[in-house]
Amino acid sequence: MGATVLFTGRSQEKANAIISRATLLTKSDILKKLIFKKCDFTDFSDVLSVVESIKRESGGKLNILMNNAGLTSATKKTTKDSCDLVVQTNHLSPFLLTSELLSLLNKTPNSRIVCLSSIASEDKGMLSKGLMLKDFNWETTPYEQMGFNNYSTTKYYNMIFAETLNLYIEKENMKIKVASCHPGWVLTDWSNNAPKYLIPLFNFLIPISDLFAKDLKYGYSTQMHCSTVELKELVSGSYYADCVVKQDRKTPKDMLTKESGIAVWNKTIEVIENRIGKKLTGLSKL
Ligand SMILES: NC(=O)c1ccc[n+]([C@@H]2O[C@H](COP(=O)([O-])OP(=O)(O)OC[C@H]3O[C@@H](n4cnc5c(N)ncnc54)[C@H](OP(=O)(O)O)[C@@H]3O)[C@@H](O)[C@H]2O)c1
Repeated sequence: MGATVLFTGRSQEKANAIISRATLLTKSDILKKLIFKKCDFTDFSDVLSVVESIKRESGGKLNILMNNAGLTSATKKTTKDSCDLVVQTNHLSPFLLTSELLSLLNKTPNSRIVCLSSIASEDKGMLSKGLMLKDFNWETTPYEQMGFNNYSTTKYYNMIFAETLNLYIEKENMKIKVASCHPGWVLTDWSNNAPKYLIPLFNFLIPISDLFAKDLKYGYSTQMHCSTVELKELVSGSYYADCVVKQDRKTPKDMLTKESGIAVWNKTIEVIENRIGKKLTGLSKL
């Protein structure tokens, strides 16, 4: 038996290294097949192509969708779809991917979606720009706190997306479950996108990171918990940290209302449909 895992990324070379590291697993009962699909989340047409190829190769079922891709940027960059680099990579493209894979997930019994958010989604200071509905792609709003105000907003979107997607799923009488999570602070390649002057600091921190950051081995525990815990135990729509539902979120209260979630949801659909020039097939406005 074993699972077939399909993962995406931009680099075939990085993917080859992952596949060769997983050889032992593929020889066991845990993993049947590891498939890589090249996909750049800064390009909506790439996301739509990967959706088609997943649908072709999935054998008609998809048990777990994990929306993991994410980055931060200290300076503003615009994608070829005329979106903010971080907003498109962290929020718009995962939203599009989820939307277009929804029917496949819905056809699969006991399916679930896990969205990687962050504790940054709870930082009042970094979220001081609010929902950003009037300038969703940060065209005029300045990046502050080395770009972390922009990153935090997208991580807030990931959390509120899971919550609102759960409402949508219930409304449509679907059976899919969805959760968002904060993995913990893990010194991954993520720090490579930090401002250049901070790189020496990260290089200094990495060797002593066990003292304060989660080891890479444990860095994936919360998202793995959400992906593998018995489905009846997964609290759909919730935000997890340290493998449990986080009750005391510090996000400004007015950003956690159902209305805020729906406002971000509807704006997201408007922006994506405008860029791809057609209606989404899975998700629609609430
Ligand atoms: N590390 C932490 O402390 C921490 C804390 C809270 C939340 N998170 C969240 O955890 C998630 C994973 O981050 P990480 O720490 O593992 O960082 P990472 O090592 O830098 O991994 C980032 C992932 O995002 C993918 N990615 C980035 N830009 C992309 C693009 N344009 N198109 C497609 N894929 C893209 C990368 O794929 P390729 O480079 O292979 O293309 C890689 O798989 C992110 O959503 C992050 O916000 C991390």
